[in-house]
Amino acid sequence: MDNFTFYNPTRIVFGKDKTANIGKVTAPWGQRVMLLYGQGSVKKTGILDTVKQSLEQSGITVFECGGVQPNPVLSFAQQAIEAFRADKLDAIVAVGGGSVIDTAKTIAAGVPYDGNVWDFFSGKAKVESAVPVTVVLTLPAAASEMNSGGVITNEQTQQKFNIMGDPLYPKASILDPVNTFSAPLHHSLYGVVDAMVHLLEGYFNTTSHNTALQDRYAEGIIRTLMESASVIKTEPDNYEARSNIMWGATLAFNGLAPCGLGATGFPMHMIEHSLSAIYDVSHGAGLAMILPGWMRYRLLNSPERFARFAHTVFDIQPTADPVADAKQGIVALEKWLGSMDIPANLQQGGIPVAEIPQIAQNAVMLAQKWGLKEYTTDVITEVLQYSAGE
Ligand code: NZQ
Ligand code: ZN
Repeated sequence: MDNFTFYNPTRIVFGKDKTANIGKVTAPWGQRVMLLYGQGSVKKTGILDTVKQSLEQSGITVFECGGVQPNPVLSFAQQAIEAFRADKLDAIVAVGGGSVIDTAKTIAAGVPYDGNVWDFFSGKAKVESAVPVTVVLTLPAAASEMNSGGVITNEQTQQKFNIMGDPLYPKASILDPVNTFSAPLHHSLYGVVDAMVHLLEGYFNTTSHNTALQDRYAEGIIRTLMESASVIKTEPDNYEARSNIMWGATLAFNGLAPCGLGATGFPMHMIEHSLSAIYDVSHGAGLAMILPGWMRYRLLNSPERFARFAHTVFDIQPTADPVADAKQGIVALEKWLGSMDIPANLQQGGIPVAEIPQIAQNAVMLAQKWGLKEYTTDVITEVLQYSAGE
């Protein structure tokens, strides 16, 4: 196991009816809060009312700020920073999925900063302080509820970049699986894929040779996510399946999975962020379009690893030929994605393959920012061609 440092200060409150605890966990951090949410699903489901009531019962004054869009944009966060300052607020309560939480973190970093909040995304500035954020999660996927990252698109430059920093860990997050019953099935399944890929980025890209614990951690969560995904397809209100997906997605990207794996890198995310920056596809769907193609591009690099994935996740019978086993695993993965109505390549996702050169141009900026030296424009183009589909 390689050396590592693990730090995560977020308090998790998990379970049925826990939404009503948001007032209690927020009160130590602020008395005048911005209540941030998305395009209105939380109004329809009644989650917003429960949150407001709980905050007000704790003596907190609420300032609503709705309208965060999926694939959230910089201009919205910039306006919200101004509103937060004008109203002299002291904390943010984010109610929603990754897009709302990431926007909350962007506002949180931007409020105490004199310059343009994009400086944190472009790498010009580091997050030294942030206003406190608490969360009520409604869609498991990004794990933003228990990590220190956030992703925003700069509409002007078509760059989907990320912010990171210890001050951005949410102070507390409420994870009530019941709040996810209403999530549209396709978004729920995209969330499952996002969580799977968070684990697979480490699993396939590890530089360590001693990964017994980490491998089983990833495989166990992935198998559980896939089983639970099949359940919610026909039973969206199945509490146990929703619980496994909710906690599984958090565990996939709260910093535990890569502990001991050494340097890994996030190449599939690097490419996907360019897809969703340009075409506004859902993040998990974009990842699903890239994953099988990227595995084909990469498998000769470490065939045993890809074969192991086929054996342990898809129960492919081991043979003497790891490359053949690995390929069978990729086909099984594509089949599973198909059975969930999730696009498994660019064509299935409606991405114009003639535009692969532009996507690669956009992605290479992020590859350079993340230090993914192997991923030149040519290599990214090659991965995208593997992902193009028939
Ligand atoms: O806008 P509302 O009305 O809330 O509707 C949302 C949205 O349309 C809807 N939804 C969420 N919960 C619901 C619900 N509808 C009904 N009932 C509910 N309970 O679902 C749609 C998608 O929501 P969104 O927040 O965009 O999805 P997700 O959680 O997948 O977040 C995606 C964003 O997270 C970023 C992605 O790039 C993308 O921008 N990521 C953030 C990461 C992080 N902070 O660490 C890491 C990830 O790799 C990812 O990049
Ligand atoms: Zn992701």
